[in-house]
Amino acid sequence: MKPTKIGIDAGGTLIKISYLEEETIRYRSFQTQHIGEAASWVNDHFRNPKICLTGGKSQVFAEELDVSTHSVLEFEATTRGITYLADEDGHSLGSHFLFVNIGTGTSMHYVKNGTQERVGGSGIGGGTLMGLAYLTTGMTDYDEIVRLAGIGNRGNVDLKVKDIFEGAVPPISGDLTASNLGKTAFMMQNPPTQQDTLASIIGLIGEVIVTISSQMAAHYNADSIVYVGSSFRDNPIIREIIETYAWMIGKKPVFLQHGDYSGAVGALLAVDEGVIE
Ligand SMILES: Nc1ncnc2c1ncn2[C@@H]1O[C@H](COP(=O)(O)OP(=O)(O)OP(=O)(O)O)[C@@H](O)[C@H]1O
Ligand SMILES: [Mg+2]
Repeated sequence: MKPTKIGIDAGGTLIKISYLEEETIRYRSFQTQHIGEAASWVNDHFRNPKICLTGGKSQVFAEELDVSTHSVLEFEATTRGITYLADEDGHSLGSHFLFVNIGTGTSMHYVKNGTQERVGGSGIGGGTLMGLAYLTTGMTDYDEIVRLAGIGNRGNVDLKVKDIFEGAVPPISGDLTASNLGKTAFMMQNPPTQQDTLASIIGLIGEVIVTISSQMAAHYNADSIVYVGSSFRDNPIIREIIETYAWMIGKKPVFLQHGDYSGAVGALLAVDEGVIE
């Protein structure tokens, strides 16, 4: 029996595992909070696996495993995973593109001829979504947060350009956000629901990231921006915001079917190459 190949991206929030089963890549993830559970699953599920790790919690995760492992640098693994997954999804990224990884935090990279350079980042990311959701509603369950956000109304929390230019023609589209979470005077009279608040929090994060990344893409003259990371999981709001804005400024947003696993897939592809720990 050939040993199973496994690529693992152990991030600040989630542990993403991709492994080969009869030539098909399978996907599985766990909360980093329950790192022991994830390691037990790997230890119990595979016999004599060949494992390559990436991500900030690689070292901690490796110590929980029964077998020795290899590791690869996260940025390289993500670049490789994105290239592979984009190809699988039938996207043509050309010789150069930008990618944005919205994980716990956000990291931006310019890729040219297969080589990546980290060109920016932001502390605003998926962790900010979880943190602001907790601070404002006490909620901690990601699925519940995005589900409720889906039925919220941002118009009760965010100030649009047209809210300021009352009765006058604004110099830019009135539908653009003038101030995220900025409708305070209105909110004092009409307290928003949790759903409204959550929708606006996701709006804030999406708009900050798409603004920075679009400017970055313009700077590097990249036509496509690939957005990956688990912050897009079952989260149509953030995806729609990013899609709308990116197209508006003429950049093509690309979302990958398994973009949350790009690091794990990159590690899987490097299983036979990584440095032995
Ligand atoms: N089941 C889930 N539990 C918690 N967060 C989730 C879940 N599904 C999606 N998310 C979102 O995805 C984010 C984490 O994304 P991702 O897994 O890409 O980050 P990470 O790799 O763990 O972090 P980093 O790369 O910054 O170390 C969370 O902050 C949250 O917004
Ligand atoms: Mg990550």
